[in-house]
Amino acid sequence: PPATVYQAENATISQGLVESNWAGYTGTGFVNVDNAVGSYVQWSVVPAAAGSTGLTIRFANGTTANRPMSITVNGTVVSANQAFNATGAWTTWSEVTVNATLTAGTNTVRATSTSATGGPNLDKLTLGTVGGGGAPTAAE
Ligand code: GCU
Repeated sequence: PPATVYQAENATISQGLVESNWAGYTGTGFVNVDNAVGSYVQWSVVPAAAGSTGLTIRFANGTTANRPMSITVNGTVVSANQAFNATGAWTTWSEVTVNATLTAGTNTVRATSTSATGGPNLDKLTLGTVGGGGAPTAAE
């Protein structure tokens, strides 16, 4: 059924672990993707309707360097080198939003590490209002 919030720990994970050792996550934990190119989290999402919407990913990056990921929707790249910048601590969570067009029914959203450091720790994916574009990307 349609839903707005999709926890990373309930998604499909390739090269990563569900963990809960850093506070501030929602749900029951977060995903620590492996520090490797190609590690990913893949969500199956059902929007309320087809159309353009924001995909907001909540994350933490306790390093001092960007942890870029490629964001795809149904296999098509919507943000090739999406920045997940340092948040200051693994317990400090931030959000980035990319816009994408979703179809009616189930869509596949995948976030894949594009550097050897891997992506950040990933908490959840939130869909914006269909047709409403994305929520603003949180300032760092
Ligand atoms: C630390 C941290 C992890 C994080 C990892 C990383 O080990 O505890 O939560 O995922 O660094 O660099 O990716």
